[in-house]
Amino acid sequence: MIGRGPSVRWVRVWSDEGMSTLYLFAGAAEPVFDIARVIEDAQADGWDVCLGLTPTAARWLAGSLDGLAVLTGHPVRWDYGLPGEPDVWPEASAVLVAPATFNSLNQWALGIVDKFVVGVAAEGIGKGVPMVTVPCVSGAHAGHPQFERSVETLRGAGVSVLYGEDGSLPDPSAGFPWRLALDAVRGRVAVG
Ligand SMILES: Cc1cc2nc3c(=O)[nH]c(=O)nc-3n(C[C@H](O)[C@H](O)[C@H](O)COP(=O)(O)O)c2cc1C
Repeated sequence: MIGRGPSVRWVRVWSDEGMSTLYLFAGAAEPVFDIARVIEDAQADGWDVCLGLTPTAARWLAGSLDGLAVLTGHPVRWDYGLPGEPDVWPEASAVLVAPATFNSLNQWALGIVDKFVVGVAAEGIGKGVPMVTVPCVSGAHAGHPQFERSVETLRGAGVSVLYGEDGSLPDPSAGFPWRLALDAVRGRVAVG
């Protein structure tokens, strides 16, 4: 048992079968530079973390990718494997897509899966994997009509989209709600 707290909900997440696996998927927005600390926070919560990045985010973090692989204990992934290659990650118990850019959020909602992380997140809907996302968009992006449609589509598909008063606001000075995101994903798994 790896759980840290006394609650019954917590006990259901971390069973004797081992640690639950969190796929942490990040896009190319400024909060991605927090990712090492967020991984450590998630690990402190008891997750086995696998880090996936969009290709652009991977380019931004190019100098840190080896260290992030050591930190998580898994290869950092940003591209699909080749046919016949074995899956290098354990199965996901939950997925957190954050920061979710305007681009990736819309692709996810529309089912445009040429990026590895968006493809896995899209499949996660079909598989019923608990998923949480935190959009990181400017006010101008939020004013584009597709944004609201994408948020509604993902919510309708069972994804917890932290956007609005309880999530990411289109106001950079408000800070990115990483703790809220980690609590939300833990809650999603705990309640099934
Ligand atoms: C410094 C910088 C900051 C950016 N911040 C954001 C952002 O907060 N949200 C967003 O949607 N796009 C942002 N972008 C644009 C995305 O990086 C760009 O749309 C990229 O194609 C997203 O690709 P991805 O969704 O595959 O990560 C930013 C770009 C730069 C150069």
